[in-house]
Amino acid sequence: MSYALEARDIVRHYGHVEALRGCNFTVKAGEVTALIGDNGAGKSTLVRILSGTEQPNGGEILVEGKSVVFNTPAEARDAGIETVFQDLALCSHLNAVQNMYLGREVPRKGFMGKLGFMDYDAMRAGSEEAFRDLGATVRSLTANVGSMSGGQRQSIAVARSAAWASKVLFFDEPTAALGVVQKKNVLDLVRRVRDKGIGVVFISHSMPEVLDIADRVQVMRRGKTIADYKASETNLEELVGAMTGRLDEVGN
Ligand SMILES: Nc1ncnc2c1ncn2[C@@H]1O[C@H](COP(=O)(O)OP(=O)(O)OP(=O)(O)O)[C@@H](O)[C@H]1O
Ligand SMILES: [Mg+2]
Repeated sequence: MSYALEARDIVRHYGHVEALRGCNFTVKAGEVTALIGDNGAGKSTLVRILSGTEQPNGGEILVEGKSVVFNTPAEARDAGIETVFQDLALCSHLNAVQNMYLGREVPRKGFMGKLGFMDYDAMRAGSEEAFRDLGATVRSLTANVGSMSGGQRQSIAVARSAAWASKVLFFDEPTAALGVVQKKNVLDLVRRVRDKGIGVVFISHSMPEVLDIADRVQVMRRGKTIADYKASETNLEELVGAMTGRLDEVGN
């Protein structure tokens, strides 16, 4: 069986900083894999590369066993890969519905659509459904998201990506800015997305959260994945040991 998504030997440097030094990473369909590692381990860099936001200096990316090159985020999205970034990528001058359908606007049927008019009712209904699905409290669909709280913006970004992902969904610290109830909603949503057969990648610094949500845990340290555990067969001590290098003799 091939992986939904696989990274092989990915290298990425920024000047003299080697952010990724031959990093391997795998995502299986219908599974939540947590990607953990200390600050600066290279998690977000790996996500940017696997979502087409940045290009690697070396290595290979495979989607369902086929080698691919993502030159842009749109190419990754077309391959079914969606991302909720650590630093949110919402347009603050647009409202929730416009953000939801950014780059995927639904044209009106017939002649008006050909003239470029949008089917706003369809997009509003689709947005409402996505937010309901998430249990997100988006108070207004018409207010610009720039006027919303960090947590509300986070909910919109999560709902948008979950609604469009067909193969893989990356969450880079999705619950960091959220209150208790919204945090639980995001974790519930992650499970629902997984149960639809999508491969979910969950980045978090909260080990209890990771052990709660993940089926598998891949550990990154200094630009490489150094361990791959079944969540049911590992524990907090082992994960912290791998992240900090206390298990050095086993890995690199
Ligand atoms: N745009 C950039 N320019 C220069 N260096 C960068 C850039 N992005 C990341 N780095 C460096 O690459 C390394 C990996 O950073 P990255 O953001 O991927 O880590 P991370 O694992 O996501 O950390 P955190 O848990 O703090 O989010 C760090 O040393 C960082 O300083
Ligand atoms: Mg990061």
